[in-house]
Amino acid sequence: MNTQALRFFKHGEIVTLHNVPPTRTLLEVLREDLHCTGTKEGCNEGDCGACTVVIGEERNGQLHTRAVNSCIRMAHSIDGMALWTVEDISAADGTQHPAQEAMVQCHGSQCGFCTPGFVMSLFGLYQDCRGQAVSRDTALEALSGNLCRCTGYRPILDAAQAMTALPPARLDTAEVLSKLKLLAQATQGLQANSSYISPRNLKALLAARAQYPQAQIVAGCTDVGLWVTKMHMQFAQVLDVTQVRELRRIEQYPRHIAIGAAVSLTDAYAALVADRPQLQTFAQRFAGLPVRNSGTLGGNVANGSPIGDSMPLLIALGANVVLMSERGHRELPLEDLYTGYRQNVMAPDEVLAWIKVPKAVPAERSRVYKISKRFEDDISAVCLALNLHIVDSVVQKASIGVGGVAATPVRARQTEAALTGQPWNQDTVRRIQQVLRNEFSPISDMRASAAYRSTVLGNLLQRYWLESQGLQTVEVHHLDTLQLEGAAS
Ligand SMILES: Cc1cc2nc3c(=O)[nH]c(=O)nc-3n(C[C@H](O)[C@H](O)[C@H](O)COP(=O)(O)OP(=O)(O)OC[C@H]3O[C@@H](n4cnc5c(N)ncnc54)[C@H](O)[C@@H]3O)c2cc1C
Ligand code: FES
Ligand code: FES
Repeated sequence: MNTQALRFFKHGEIVTLHNVPPTRTLLEVLREDLHCTGTKEGCNEGDCGACTVVIGEERNGQLHTRAVNSCIRMAHSIDGMALWTVEDISAADGTQHPAQEAMVQCHGSQCGFCTPGFVMSLFGLYQDCRGQAVSRDTALEALSGNLCRCTGYRPILDAAQAMTALPPARLDTAEVLSKLKLLAQATQGLQANSSYISPRNLKALLAARAQYPQAQIVAGCTDVGLWVTKMHMQFAQVLDVTQVRELRRIEQYPRHIAIGAAVSLTDAYAALVADRPQLQTFAQRFAGLPVRNSGTLGGNVANGSPIGDSMPLLIALGANVVLMSERGHRELPLEDLYTGYRQNVMAPDEVLAWIKVPKAVPAERSRVYKISKRFEDDISAVCLALNLHIVDSVVQKASIGVGGVAATPVRARQTEAALTGQPWNQDTVRRIQQVLRNEFSPISDMRASAAYRSTVLGNLLQRYWLESQGLQTVEVHHLDTLQLEGAAS
């Protein structure tokens, strides 16, 4: 099988690498092939942020940068992009970048192992905020994928806020864009029988899928990357969907939003939150920022983990998925995609192309609750999404998605049927809590016991009821300070 050359722009130069295997990670290439050992390996599974780097692409004529984890990203996925590691951000005369200088001034580093990762997340934030002041919340979000064992987070958050007040560092975006243009011209396109296939358009993707049905599809690799680094799986051939221009689009229609399968979780959730602002907290609780910057909505849905976060929400919102192949396309409700634990109805020549999400309507009251051990960067033990249409205190329509209680993400059909047509009051809620708890038989595992999952499921319905009565529950970082605000009227 052919291995295409890998080219990217780093430190003022175009780097060209040959014979990079399809499952070699970007971190391996950096540390072992390029000897850029500033980027650290901590967990090797996307959890700690020690390996954070920033990648850049051209989007609508502008340079778009984002922080990602290099440990679970396949190296070939950055072909044609710009890359910054901690070695690349100080000025030519050695002046530290404000992200570095602020860490020094605020005493943001002790043993220093995590520091390159924090600095690169800060560099990503610096690019995004374009000289504007950084709020504490923005700093928290930007650093949500970085762990530090010894310094404590307060000085690091201080550094995030202090860096924009330091003498500015300007990135020569015109130069980067011109190099990206050069790289785009040099792209070899689809080569026959290549070990890493990265089609640029849908037609080429569907042709490649039909020709190489055994190739491992990857998107952001935030699931597949761990199969490589933790389960030591190797794939002879990889089919990367992330450069397919049609699948990177978000399209707005009068009644729905169509999100391309290769749209990053960051962008997909921004579109969902724009339509339903109440989803903001939930969106921020999906992994940490670098994972959301790499991972895609299509990858979350296609992976079909029973504890994946997007699916309960999308089921409750009535989303459909569009599967495509050279034979044509078909559309089905999201919950019908799954046939068993991480099994789905996709044929070997099909890909997931679109997720179509109905827009909010005035009658709906949609909420989603994630229960996990940690507030940030943790997978759900239970996830419950409710979308009820309550008119004149009667439930006209109920749409409920649940995660963490079965082998797949599921629709709570019995509970929906039991709720529909019922008066919306505490008695109904008490009765329906039992229906919801009895509808599923969750398992016990390291995240939670079966009994806990069932109990909490019913409790979340009570929370939804209380919120519908004007009580505001506040999601805070420590459960011991969880408060209920306001009073029932
Ligand atoms: C530290 C960390 C934290 C995480 N936290 C969360 C969390 O809070 N909530 C959560 O739900 N998940 C979480 N995840 C899991 C993961 O980030 C998500 O499932 C993510 O959406 C996967 O998307 P991806 O693009 O990276 O998919 P990939 O890993 O590239 O692919 C996943 C699967 O989908 C298939 N696939 C991808 N795209 C397509 C397509 N277009 N057509 C057909 N098949 C396709 C692949 O073949 C593969 O089987 C976390 C992961 C990490 C590493
Ligand atoms: S090494 Fe921990 S996130 Fe990559
Ligand atoms: S400074 Fe030691 S882990 Fe952060």
